[in-house]
Amino acid sequence: MSSSSHPTVIIIGAGIIGLACALKVQAKLGEHEGTRHVEVLLVACEWPGSMPGAPSTHSADYASMWAGAHVRPIPATTPQLRREATWLKLTAAEFDRQVETEPWCGVTRIAGVEFLEAPDRGYRNQDAGSFERESGLRGYRKLSPSEVPGGVSLGFEYETFCINPPLYCEHLLRRFLLQGGKTVQRELKSEWEAFSLRGNVLFIVNASGTGFGDPKCFPIRGQTVVTNLSDITKTVTRHNKDGSRSFLIPRFFNGGTIVGGTVEPGDWRTEPDSATRSRIFAAGLTIEPYAHDDTPGSHAESPRNVKVVSDVVGRRPTREGGMRLEVEERALVQHNRKPTAGRVVHAYGAGGRGYEVSWGVASEVVELAGPLFEPRASLGAKL
Ligand SMILES: Cc1cc2nc3c(=O)[nH]c(=O)nc-3n(C[C@H](O)[C@H](O)[C@H](O)COP(=O)(O)OP(=O)(O)OC[C@H]3O[C@@H](n4cnc5c(N)ncnc54)[C@H](O)[C@@H]3O)c2cc1C
Ligand SMILES: *[C@@H]1O[C@H](CO)[C@@H](O)[C@H](O)[C@H]1NC(C)=O
Ligand SMILES: *[C@@H]1O[C@H](CO)[C@@H](O)[C@H](O)[C@H]1NC(C)=O
Repeated sequence: MSSSSHPTVIIIGAGIIGLACALKVQAKLGEHEGTRHVEVLLVACEWPGSMPGAPSTHSADYASMWAGAHVRPIPATTPQLRREATWLKLTAAEFDRQVETEPWCGVTRIAGVEFLEAPDRGYRNQDAGSFERESGLRGYRKLSPSEVPGGVSLGFEYETFCINPPLYCEHLLRRFLLQGGKTVQRELKSEWEAFSLRGNVLFIVNASGTGFGDPKCFPIRGQTVVTNLSDITKTVTRHNKDGSRSFLIPRFFNGGTIVGGTVEPGDWRTEPDSATRSRIFAAGLTIEPYAHDDTPGSHAESPRNVKVVSDVVGRRPTREGGMRLEVEERALVQHNRKPTAGRVVHAYGAGGRGYEVSWGVASEVVELAGPLFEPRASLGAKL
């Protein structure tokens, strides 16, 4: 079997993290004559293609289909947040490039507005300089009291990005396939099982979202609604005193607008809760007047006539201490061959920020994998 000896890189997961990693790996392999023949194989149980309101078989676990999604920087006040800020900055640069070169890809440049009832020190100390240094996003401006709703003690705006998640993921998958990428639909019992899919696996990227059996992983349930609001021009988030949040995230390219939403750690319910729906929908619409370019209140018909297209429940694949990004090596059982090491680069546990950190994470995965791009034969001597 000649295919069994063909060197292959396997990526587990077709969410935003796996797709970004797959494209970065392809780009890296393309840099050198010696690695151009290496195959990239994407393995996943679930694949992009969901449209809220249309029949879908996606589970709540496939977080990438259920995200808003917008880029909303968080002040980098802890080591974990600083690490995420570095990834976010790289991602913002990539979105900037994609908006220019592939305006149909599902990413849109847009104004972001945030209202905080009880800002912590990180938010209070932010200014245009620190904001841009941490996020790469421009145009930070504090809002005056006349520009914010009642009860809000800090408001600011900046230039950011909104993503239509299913559309963007499909775009990335199409690009991967056009560039020669291969796919297998499979539910793996362990990342180590993936080594059995090909005879000569250089390494595996574990971008499975929650991972298998990592005790640090847990879901954070998010319930939102997709509405038919289609003319808003800003993404608005209100942080309430009690820790809850209201947000509006337009999904451009006929995706409606997401009104949300909940943040429920450890809640495994996959069905939408109707009381929750009424609450988040009503609360979300109170910030709708601030999602337009004109002055709040002057908008033609307020409150607007808005319809719910569908309920959304997704699980943010979260990990205590942040994403796991590291190489793990284990001896593999191989038939008719010398014992050999299997190498996995873990990239799971993105929590509520998978889109905004995606390209930074994928760059780090490729860096971590650096030496693993060499064919395994040349590493055999070390074992
Ligand atoms: C309501 C909501 C709002 C959100 N808003 C935002 C936002 O505004 N901005 C933002 O950046 N992020 C947001 N997120 C978070 C974002 O959706 C996640 O961080 C991101 O989707 C995680 O991507 P992932 O690729 O790690 O995992 P996933 O999207 O969950 O993908 C996992 C992939 O791995 C595959 N897989 C898993 N297990 C196996 C197995 N055993 N065998 C084979 N394949 C397997 C799955 O089939 C799937 O293809 C939001 C999430 C929710 C729920
Ligand atoms: C990813 O790695 C974690 C930790 O080893 C593991 O629990 C999980 O099974 C892995 N998932 C996949 C799909 O590789
Ligand atoms: C949304 O639905 C409502 C109720 O059906 C309707 O009145 C409104 O015009 C719709 N908005 C758009 C933008 O289609």
